[in-house]
Amino acid sequence: MHKSKAVIARDKGKTVEVIEIAVPEPGPNEVLVTIKSCGVCHTDLHYREGAINDDFPFLLGHEASGYIKEVGEAVTNVSVGDFVIIAWRSPCGLCRSCVKGKPWYCFDSRNAVQDMSLADGTILSPALGIGAFSELTLVDAGQAIKVNPSVNPNTASLLGCGVMAGLGAAINTGSVAMGDSVAVFGCGGVGNAAIVGSKLAGAQDVIAVDIDDKKLKWAKEFGATHTVNSLNNDPVDFIRSVTDGNGADVTIEAVGNPKTYEQAFYARDHAGVLVLVGVPDPAMNINLPLIEIFGRGGSLKSSWYGDCLPSRDFPKYIDLHLDGRIDLDKFVTETISLSEVESAFHKMEAGEVLRSVVVFE
Ligand SMILES: NC(=O)c1ccc[n+]([C@@H]2O[C@H](COP(=O)([O-])OP(=O)(O)OC[C@H]3O[C@@H](n4cnc5c(N)ncnc54)[C@H](O)[C@@H]3O)[C@@H](O)[C@H]2O)c1
Ligand SMILES: [Zn+2]
Ligand SMILES: [Zn+2]
Repeated sequence: MHKSKAVIARDKGKTVEVIEIAVPEPGPNEVLVTIKSCGVCHTDLHYREGAINDDFPFLLGHEASGYIKEVGEAVTNVSVGDFVIIAWRSPCGLCRSCVKGKPWYCFDSRNAVQDMSLADGTILSPALGIGAFSELTLVDAGQAIKVNPSVNPNTASLLGCGVMAGLGAAINTGSVAMGDSVAVFGCGGVGNAAIVGSKLAGAQDVIAVDIDDKKLKWAKEFGATHTVNSLNNDPVDFIRSVTDGNGADVTIEAVGNPKTYEQAFYARDHAGVLVLVGVPDPAMNINLPLIEIFGRGGSLKSSWYGDCLPSRDFPKYIDLHLDGRIDLDKFVTETISLSEVESAFHKMEAGEVLRSVVVFE
């Protein structure tokens, strides 16, 4: 058993705590990872607010990179010392989706079998099966994805969740194609990654929508060709005005809100694609005329983790970044210590950061 300093959310809405936890030795198919850095994602805050489920206490943090410290029996994909990004999807290879050849939807994704716990033995629920606001974490070997170790680990960690979700929402789920027009609603870490992904896929017009001018300024730096503050202008009218009155080929909702979903629905061209990557609160509902859903055609899709296959996608995007084809360094707004996660939540809510990244010594 190892001891590790970690950030937990003990109860709904309560300030997070830095505490010492117990992490078991890896068993069969498990690996122990020394965390190098871990981004603060909006989903960690959703956990803390009880918006994901009620399995408190949570071990937060799920956007991480680090080094393999120990491997359990039967582990073949990584060795001690390897630099890895931790994925929250490790396809089982056996479920009905894996068997159909669509492992990116895997319905029985693997996590460590053994539990991490508080000193008194209380079992922790690791956020998204990871729990990486911790010096050490235990995951399924398939969650540990080896990438080129020359990348900045702070940048690499963000590909573990928000950046991959955004890139994949555009490329895998939205299938953005050469010359397409794309509108992205919500320009946080996920939305800006969707902008980067759209540009990489060859989109011509990329329209960024947000309610915060600072976010829109960053969106421009990530490659948006047009920006609109939806507090001051109707984003649907604006998107039509810059797409010859037609609407965008692909619209990407990266907020998780019925209002922005509705805007993304109406800002689409006929037969266009709407991708929902923002995570809604369970209490949210949407009311759309069924005739509009029929009449506008196209597809309304959800993007779970950017429909990524981590073992295929993580090494690829790290190499594209190292080759200078995409710039992922700009997603890191600041680096912080483990004790600053709570203040990072406040900065995120105030829109001051794209990503705060916890760095371990
Ligand atoms: N589907 C997935 O697999 C996946 C993965 C990671 C994160 N997410 C979700 O994606 C969403 C975005 O995450 P993030 O980390 O980028 O969050 P974030 O807080 O960094 O960004 C959200 C952005 O939305 C903007 N916004 C808020 N209300 C708006 C409105 N009414 N109109 C336009 N813009 C508005 C904010 O100003 C901010 O820029 C969250 O819901 C998160 O849980 C989903
Ligand atoms: Zn499966
Ligand atoms: Zn996340």
